[in-house]
Amino acid sequence: MGAVGMKDVARHAGVSIGTVSNVMNHPEKVAPATVERVHRSIEALSFVRNDAARQLREGHSKTVGFVVLDVRNPFFTDVARGAENRARKDGLSIILGNSDDDPDRESAHLELFEQQRSYGILISPIGDVTPRLSELRARGIPAVLVDRASTDRTISSVTVDDVAGGRMAVEHLISEGRSRIAFVGGPLSTRQVADRLEGARAAVGAHAGVTLEVLVLNTLSVIAGRQAGQEIAARTEPPDAIFAANDLVAMGVLQALLLQGAGIRVPDDIALIGYDDIDFASAAVVPLSSIRQPAEMIGHTALEVLLEEAANPKAAPRHVEFQPELVVRGSSSATAVDRA
Ligand code: RIB
Repeated sequence: MGAVGMKDVARHAGVSIGTVSNVMNHPEKVAPATVERVHRSIEALSFVRNDAARQLREGHSKTVGFVVLDVRNPFFTDVARGAENRARKDGLSIILGNSDDDPDRESAHLELFEQQRSYGILISPIGDVTPRLSELRARGIPAVLVDRASTDRTISSVTVDDVAGGRMAVEHLISEGRSRIAFVGGPLSTRQVADRLEGARAAVGAHAGVTLEVLVLNTLSVIAGRQAGQEIAARTEPPDAIFAANDLVAMGVLQALLLQGAGIRVPDDIALIGYDDIDFASAAVVPLSSIRQPAEMIGHTALEVLLEEAANPKAAPRHVEFQPELVVRGSSSATAVDRA
């Protein structure tokens, strides 16, 4: 017996195929008793709707493709959670694609989402994807940049002011009396990292007697942070503060300082602050100070902007920029009252 179709459900429930379609797409148009009877038939026959026909009719699927830089980073899954919570209200789903900082993988995800006629695309891009996104937009697939704006601002974006965030982090370390600061992060080709470093440099430049060294990493990971932390812990003259470009790096640095640091105390000897304020930050053995990004709100807002673009493709691109927030915990201030 082939797959159960709508006609089988209609026969089983004793209604027309149109009524079955209305029960699935516009239940408000059908008497409640009939809705109930059709759902009982759907369940009895184990009917699963074939979205391909609807997709051909409407020209797109009910899925939003979200390409992230690093699926291991809880920041991006928090953003995805915010987007998904908003998408559900419009009967849409989010499909995550991990570019892993690899342009070929990023391109392959965009290709797949176009083939699937995605409702729209959210992307935290590696580099400049504006030409590709403009192509998709011209073919009826709107796109929104997440956590990064395009230089020509022709594509809508939802971002955080990372320059302000970097400046906030270093000004906090300076306010704690630190003057030999190390920035640990990379690659500097990642716009978010470069902006945070720019903010850090601005803070140092505003305070005489404060120095900044830069330890460039190939990737923003716990392992890379741990390696940098080991190098710093082995110095006879280590910095008295570290600003890590994100919390994953900061967690790696913290682990190295405490485990291989030959008695290094955090924050007494070296103060440490990260970026993102992922959940693990507050749960670290020394609760991590961080610069909080409103990750779920970023995702929620990016989906809202996407829905607006889908409803009005001719509208001008929209740019939403959130402000970061300093969260002080024990890793940078001995007097901090740890907040969850
Ligand atoms: O992926 C790079 C970083 O940029 C993430 O940690 C997050 O902070 C994003 O803004």
